[in-house]
Amino acid sequence: MVYPSQVVYQLALVEPDQIDDNGPMPSLHPSGVNHLALSTTNMKAQLEFWCDVLGCPLKALYWMHGVPDAIHGFVELAADSYVAFVQHPQNPDSIEWGVTHAGNAASPVAGGAMQHVALHMDDLDGVLAMRDRIRNRGVQVLGPIDHGMVQSIYFAGPEGLSLEISCGAGIDEEAWIDPEVRDLCGISIDEVEAMKHPAPYERPSTAVAQPALDPRKPSLHYPGALLDVVMSMSDADVLERFSITEPPVDVTTAVDDAGA
Ligand SMILES: [Fe+2]
Repeated sequence: MVYPSQVVYQLALVEPDQIDDNGPMPSLHPSGVNHLALSTTNMKAQLEFWCDVLGCPLKALYWMHGVPDAIHGFVELAADSYVAFVQHPQNPDSIEWGVTHAGNAASPVAGGAMQHVALHMDDLDGVLAMRDRIRNRGVQVLGPIDHGMVQSIYFAGPEGLSLEISCGAGIDEEAWIDPEVRDLCGISIDEVEAMKHPAPYERPSTAVAQPALDPRKPSLHYPGALLDVVMSMSDADVLERFSITEPPVDVTTAVDDAGA
């Protein structure tokens, strides 16, 4: 059976022996953004902007695993945090402001789409240094603006990206959750308290089985019956069939052009 190439990228490649099956994990939650993947129709233009204008080193550029004719690129924000790009051969190149793209941090866009993304700097001096770097490359920058909990500058990237660079950490939720806005969102006082203190997770000693598809819950989007096919595979089968761990270049034998 041929499985869709797109499945591969959705997989978290966790080795079974890396799974810790010990007891309660009260603070279990994702600890950061490993990579934010942005769609592109022009990989070179995106890499030039992120590497030259923003100064992020290029770390990977390769055929996307299992996705025919798609290219994947990674630039580094930190050793465990990257911005990635996916150049799929069928990517549309049209921008519909207010639907596919917001264009700035104050405009509408379709639910689930990226409104804007804020990159992190440790302090305001770093934010201002980035403002100078970006302007030095001829790109207009708005700010800084002081939001109290973060200080930010705003600018655009290729293909209509709406970007921000901020400093700030340790938000005081007691000060920054507005009761008026909470009410407007239909969130009760009890519900907001639960949101502020998510329940600890009591991990069982054996792996949790794949639940049946529940139309009330979010699910990945695949055409036809493909979702059922991939979600009915065992975790071991998925790991075996879709994993590709070899980098595209064998650095133990590779000779660059200058040395060839
Ligand atoms: Fe923001």
